Amino acid sequence: MEVLQDPFEYNLVLIGFMGTGKSTVAKCLGKTCSMDIADMDQIIEKREGMTISKLFDKYGEEYFRDLETQLLIELQTRKHMIISCGGGAVLKERNIKEMKKNGRVVLLEASPETVLQRVKNNRSRPLLQGHKDIDSIKKLMEERREKYRLASDIVVETDHKTVMQICREIVTVLLEMGGKYV
Ligand code: S3P
Repeated sequence: MEVLQDPFEYNLVLIGFMGTGKSTVAKCLGKTCSMDIADMDQIIEKREGMTISKLFDKYGEEYFRDLETQLLIELQTRKHMIISCGGGAVLKERNIKEMKKNGRVVLLEASPETVLQRVKNNRSRPLLQGHKDIDSIKKLMEERREKYRLASDIVVETDHKTVMQICREIVTVLLEMGGKYV
C-alpha cells in the first residue's frame, strides 16, 4: 500500500477483544498513514514500571482501569494519532465518550478460535490466565459484544486476513466516510 501523508484529521481509535490484533494493526496503520501511535497498555506499563499482570496482581483491576481512563482523557488533547486501546477500554461509558471526542473508533473482531491461537502462548493477559479455552473466551466476548459494537464507528473482521489487508480495509472505509473530519 502506498504511504499516505497523515490523511486523517482525527485520531484512529482501535478497540476489540484481546488478541484481535490491535497493536499489530496500529503499527501497520502508523506506517501507512504516517501517524504516531499510542499503545495504551505499553504506555501504562512504562509509566508504572511494571507489566499489566504485575499491576493487576499488586493493585487490582480497578487501579488499572482508572489509569486507563486517565490516559484516554490525556490522549484526547492529541490529534492525528493511532490509539490502540486495551481490550477492556470499552467497559466504561466515560472511556467511550473520550474516544469519540476527537476520534473514529475502529472495532477489530476475530473468532474465539483465532483469539485462542493468538493468545495461547502469551502470559501477559491476567484476565485470560487459567481461562485459555474456547468456552471462556466465547463467554467473555459475549459479555462484551454489545459494548464493543455500540462504541464502534466501523467494524473490521480480521479472521484469515493479513495485517496489510486489514489496514487497507480500515483506511479505505474511513476515507470513504470522509477522511478529513470527525
Ligand atoms: C484487557 C486487555 C489487555 C489489557 C488488560 C485487560 C481486557 O489488552 O489491557 O490485560 O480487559 O480485555 P489487550 O487487548 O491489548 O490484550
